[in-house]
Amino acid sequence: LLGTYGSELRMSVYVVGGFVRDLLLNIPNYDVDIVVEGTEEKAGIEFAKYVGRELNATVVPYEKFLTASIVFKDGYKIDIATARTEYYERPGELPQVDISTIKKDLYRRDFTINAMAIKLNPQEFGTLYDFFNCRKDLENGIIRVLHNLSFVEDPTRMIRGIRFEQRYNFRMEERTLELLKKNLEENYLERVSGARIRQEIEKILEEKEPIKAFRRMAELGVLKHVFPKTYYTSLMDEKLTRLFKYLPRFKERFQNINDFYAVSTILLEYYDRDTLEEMRKKYGYPKRFIESLKMTEGLILPLKAMIEERLHFSEIYKVLGKSTPYVYIHLSAYLDDASVDYLLRYIDALNTTKLDHVTGKYLVDTYGLKQGPVLNRILEELYSMKLDDPNLDERATVEKIVQ
Ligand code: CTP
Repeated sequence: LLGTYGSELRMSVYVVGGFVRDLLLNIPNYDVDIVVEGTEEKAGIEFAKYVGRELNATVVPYEKFLTASIVFKDGYKIDIATARTEYYERPGELPQVDISTIKKDLYRRDFTINAMAIKLNPQEFGTLYDFFNCRKDLENGIIRVLHNLSFVEDPTRMIRGIRFEQRYNFRMEERTLELLKKNLEENYLERVSGARIRQEIEKILEEKEPIKAFRRMAELGVLKHVFPKTYYTSLMDEKLTRLFKYLPRFKERFQNINDFYAVSTILLEYYDRDTLEEMRKKYGYPKRFIESLKMTEGLILPLKAMIEERLHFSEIYKVLGKSTPYVYIHLSAYLDDASVDYLLRYIDALNTTKLDHVTGKYLVDTYGLKQGPVLNRILEELYSMKLDDPNLDERATVEKIVQ
């Protein structure tokens, strides 16, 4: 249908990039990127508007980038671009855009595996456009840049390359690897905004086995340019492996867990305050998150020991209290399966336990106590005892505490 509309407008229409890659790999991919070749720089936007009218869908144009999104009633979205050559005024910045042909459009892309197009116009429907032997690289499992300046133009491609490599079990080609290392040493990644780097890392975290990409980032030295004080030891690898394993169980219990913050509890361990502050500014961590990292630092190992010894919840409560999810997740990276079970039982106990028969008012009325720290301590003490024994007789117990 899109191809037919293209022909009606005398434009060539192609599906490009990741969709074509995954189609040839026989992997489902619902992200359709369309490129339109026309004589006007706004061909893509014009095409999108035409399709939008024909199919009764909403069109969101991005005039500056010569692109548009077509959003259908069911929420399904297609991105449309005009064939273009991007040129970068300075490395790491967003590209300037110029119109061009499909070949040039494909040439400016990150890797050969992402640089193929399939034509959609009826006369040529299904024709694969492969100008750079991309299909061969795809078949051989090779990640290869199209030209020497690829990482200079967009240094986040260093992270993307690793992500594709690990997702498909591909290998970075020799020259590509050399360019990556060279551009890395020339600190090109440092020119990119924290937000864009964070975005790429978040994409890694959406992969099936993110740990593989972290390993590879460490191996190639990319991690050092993103988290300068992180030393990726085998111990850290073990911690991250456990963290990824247990994370889903915390997500069952807490809403809105951010994976980037979760891994950061390990990646930012033992950072000094100044560097943490730099990281906060760069990646936009909340102040509270950084504070709690610092506060937890010395508690993790004692808590690990307490949990491994299966100390009563009341004992653990005295040290851990009711914490934020990220503290629990951080701690879980140090624990074996059975200990994580115990930690989760602790968390569940906190969530289900409340005092039913003793309140502050009860203490004031019954014992003539005044509101204040003493009264609060009594309530806390009673609460922690109830964590151990859900059937605790609250009033009888408080009687003993008060005496
Ligand atoms: N692209 C690029 N350089 C980048 C980002 C993207 O050249 N830094 C190009 C690639 O051709 C890519 C396409 O834009 O295929 C779409 O990018 P994106 O949607 O980010 O990635 P996909 O290739 O679709 O990968 P994924 O499966 O992870 O969505």
